[in-house]
Amino acid sequence: MFRSAAPADLDTSAVGHEDRIFELEIAEVTYETEDAISLCFAVPEHRKSHFRYEPGQFLTLEIPCTDGGSVARCYSFSSSPVRDPYPTVTIKRIQDGVASHWLHDNAVRGMRLKALKPSGMFGPENWDADFVLMAAGSGITPMMSIIKTALLRHTNRITLVYANQNRGSVIFAEQLTELQSRFPDRLDVHHWYTSDSGLPTAAGLASMGAAIPAHCEAFLCGPPQYMNVAEEWLARTGTTAHRTHREVFSSFDSNPFQDDTTAAAHEPDANSVTAQVEIEGISTEFAWNADTKLLDRLLELGLDAPYVCREGTCGGCAYTLTDGTVTMLANETLDEHELHQGVRLACQSVPAAEPIRAVFDR
Ligand SMILES: Cc1cc2nc3c(=O)[nH]c(=O)nc-3n(C[C@H](O)[C@H](O)[C@H](O)COP(=O)(O)OP(=O)(O)OC[C@H]3O[C@@H](n4cnc5c(N)ncnc54)[C@H](O)[C@@H]3O)c2cc1C
Ligand code: FES
Repeated sequence: MFRSAAPADLDTSAVGHEDRIFELEIAEVTYETEDAISLCFAVPEHRKSHFRYEPGQFLTLEIPCTDGGSVARCYSFSSSPVRDPYPTVTIKRIQDGVASHWLHDNAVRGMRLKALKPSGMFGPENWDADFVLMAAGSGITPMMSIIKTALLRHTNRITLVYANQNRGSVIFAEQLTELQSRFPDRLDVHHWYTSDSGLPTAAGLASMGAAIPAHCEAFLCGPPQYMNVAEEWLARTGTTAHRTHREVFSSFDSNPFQDDTTAAAHEPDANSVTAQVEIEGISTEFAWNADTKLLDRLLELGLDAPYVCREGTCGGCAYTLTDGTVTMLANETLDEHELHQGVRLACQSVPAAEPIRAVFDR
């Protein structure tokens, strides 16, 4: 479907913002360690076909605050879409953390929470490649989803290096031991405890004797220092990773559940370009001013573009640029491979050269 949009004549009823918001019921709360809980969610029957996720993706939850407001926080799926009946996220309690404390203290079976449609770009495209997974603390969550999916549905080999404070803080310790004994030739798990060995270093990681395939895809999730050390170690082993994916866990100030999407659209100025953007199969053509970010323009036109952080860090607003050129003001999530494929972030794109054509296909 195609339509040409002047701000005043847009019919937004077909693509309402509410379509991206789900009300999920907590089906089960599991205490994984002293400071980590898992929440399994029941998806309403009539919305199941819209709620699909891939290993490596995350769920954005709206979490009530004691002052009566709310915050939005992202949590990677620890469940596998091909194995686990309920989509599940696992939350570590963070010192003085608003949302993690609230969830640990209040989440119970039957509670309903608002969530955005799953999103994120951290996950394998090529399941034939061998994987090296480097996780620290709660950074294990997307790795669990990837490991369970790979072992069940694919034939590749996986090496996991998992850093924690001590043995008691290892989330999913039993599941990992069980998976390792079921798939001894395909899953190789190495634990690093800072209580025994101090903070990980490239030399220290090398001394663990983990089997690293010469060609692989590497997935890193943990504090930035840990991911830097992991990359240094991989480089030292002579590993040629086809791709190295990084996921940074952080909190955002923006709250996509509370945004006012009724702001008036700006009139095109003398420097505006023409853009054609497809969202959910509907193409819209509009004028785009050079100083306006694509996401802001789409939202002011009443179009239902996906987003979470609006800071260039989560990948929730990713789209593919098929024609023209845009400039990205920031990018803390897309890697070289994705950029080469034409993937861009709507919350950070301003127009550079027309005609611009883009499709939200992520
Ligand atoms: C894609 C993605 C996936 C994620 N997946 C997971 C996951 O699977 N599991 C998980 O546990 N977490 C995950 N996170 C992190 C999660 O979204 C939250 O950031 C985390 O739960 C902390 O939120 P909080 O509200 O408890 O802490 P916040 O209140 O946001 O505080 C975080 C820390 O910052 C400090 N802080 C806050 N404000 C300030 C300030 N003004 N000055 C100085 N320090 C401050 C606090 O003391 C605290 O230590 C993920 C994040 C992203 C982006
Ligand atoms: S909304 Fe998070 S990167 Fe754009």
